[in-house]
Amino acid sequence: MQICRDLSSLRAACAALRAGGRRLGLVPTMGALHDGHLSLLAAARAAGADAVAASIFVNPLQFNAGDDLARYPRDEEGDLAKLRDAGCDLAWLPPVDAMYPPRNCSTIEVAGPSRGFEGDARPGHFRGVATVCAKLFLQTGADIAAFGEKDWQQLQVVTRMARDLDIPIRIQPVPTMREADGLAMSSRNRFLDASERAVAPFLFQVMRDAAVAMAGGALVPAALAAGRARLVTAGFAPDYLALASAEGLEPLDALDRARPMRLLAAARLGTVRLLDNIPVAA
Ligand code: PAF
Repeated sequence: MQICRDLSSLRAACAALRAGGRRLGLVPTMGALHDGHLSLLAAARAAGADAVAASIFVNPLQFNAGDDLARYPRDEEGDLAKLRDAGCDLAWLPPVDAMYPPRNCSTIEVAGPSRGFEGDARPGHFRGVATVCAKLFLQTGADIAAFGEKDWQQLQVVTRMARDLDIPIRIQPVPTMREADGLAMSSRNRFLDASERAVAPFLFQVMRDAAVAMAGGALVPAALAAGRARLVTAGFAPDYLALASAEGLEPLDALDRARPMRLLAAARLGTVRLLDNIPVAA
């Protein structure tokens, strides 16, 4: 596995991997890799990539005052070993000033799917995500980029950004990897203490129950209110438990049989903010 830490060696390495019409897959990450990330590498290959690059960059632009950039888990050595074992061809680890050189002042704003939910909870977050992803796409020239469905709103924002800016890349959605008890895998799960870890899978259970109730005819606002109340009783501080259109993230207060829908949740458990989402059948 080749490791690049500056833009010119990255461009040369990517050009070599793409030589002769070979297709390059990209897995953007912020490190602290778990099996969910490794499933993205496999998904990029399954989607047609002949070689796969992964980036590890804790992007300061997507953290705001309420988020703790300094607290974000970092384990470069462990991450590189995992990427090597997973057959990754290239690791891109840019220093912050390679990504955002002094006097850099251009960012990308994606309106539509950035609004609401995480967009409200973390102002500026999706500007940071869209900007860094556009840069990664252009720096690598990747043909395919794999993104987990776990961050559903991010997946919609990045898909829309690439389409709107005519970046010739296919965004490959990859289903959420879950622990055996249903908890969605996340780098932040390591911050749950033992009692919080025992309660955490209840979020997924409440979401599934709400989705089943809605599909069975329960009124959407009542099913969501019941779900939020169960979360509070279990010790969560729910930020939102909401139904939305799957692509545009428009909030829905009734099932909409004309388009795919998603049940989205964010809830704090102790100091950890858990995010999850599932499809909802009409
Ligand atoms: O999902 C993440 O880890 C990050 O938001 C991403 C896509 C790597 C951009 O920094």
